[in-house]
Amino acid sequence: MDGNGRWARARNMPRFLGHRQGAKALEEILNAAQDAGVKYLTVYAFSVDNWKRSAREVRALLKLLEYYVDTKAAFFKKHNMRLGIIGDTDVLAKALRDKINKTLVRTKTCDGMTFSIAFNYGARPEIVRAAQMLCRECLKKKMRPADIDEKTFARFLYTRALPDPDLIIRTGGEQRLSNFLLWQASYAELYFTDTLWPDFNKKELEKALLAYSRRQRRFGGL
Ligand code: IPE
Ligand code: MG
Repeated sequence: MDGNGRWARARNMPRFLGHRQGAKALEEILNAAQDAGVKYLTVYAFSVDNWKRSAREVRALLKLLEYYVDTKAAFFKKHNMRLGIIGDTDVLAKALRDKINKTLVRTKTCDGMTFSIAFNYGARPEIVRAAQMLCRECLKKKMRPADIDEKTFARFLYTRALPDPDLIIRTGGEQRLSNFLLWQASYAELYFTDTLWPDFNKKELEKALLAYSRRQRRFGGL
C-alpha cells in the first residue's frame, strides 16, 4: 500500500493524514475484493525496515493499526472476514497485542475472506525464523536433511495457513517487492500501478483483476 506520504504531500498535509486516508481506502478495497470473489487478501502495512522512519510517523502507524483492529472488528464480523496478522508482533506493546488478539479471536470463525495484515513483516526475517524453528524441530525429532522439503519448510512461515498469492499489486509507482512474501511469491503475477494507495479504489482493483485474468500462468510448463 505505497504512496500515502506522497498523497499527503501533494495536498500540503502531514504524512500521517495520508496514512489515515490510506486506511480509509482499505475499507473500499476489502469490500470490492470480497465482491470479486477474492478469498485471501494480504496487505503490507508496516515492514521491518519502517522503524527507520521518524518516531512521530512510526507512532502514527502503530496508533492506526490499533485503531483499525479495534474499531473494524464489527465490520469484519458483519462481512464474514477473518483477520490474520503476519510478522513479528511480539515486539509490539501489550495493549496493542491485546486488541489484535481480541479481533483475531472474534473473527476466528469467519470464512468469507481471510484478510491478513503484514505488520513488522519482512520476508527474509520470516525465512530465517522458519529455518531456526525447523532446525529446532530437526534436532528434537532427529530428522535428516533429506526429510526437509518445501512443504515442511513452509509450515514454519507466518503464512502457513495461507495459499501462495496469485496476484501482488503494488501502488505508488515503484516496481519492486521490498521484502514482501519472497518465498510465497515464486509464481505470483505482479501488477504495478502509479496510482497512490489512498486513490486506489474499487475501479482500480477491478482493472488489476482484469489484467490478471489476461495473464497466462504456466508455472514453468508450456
Ligand atoms: C505507505 O506509503 C506505506 C507504509 C509504510 C505505511 P508511504 O508512507 O511509503 O508513502 P510514500 O512512498 O512516502 O508516498
Ligand atoms: Mg513509500
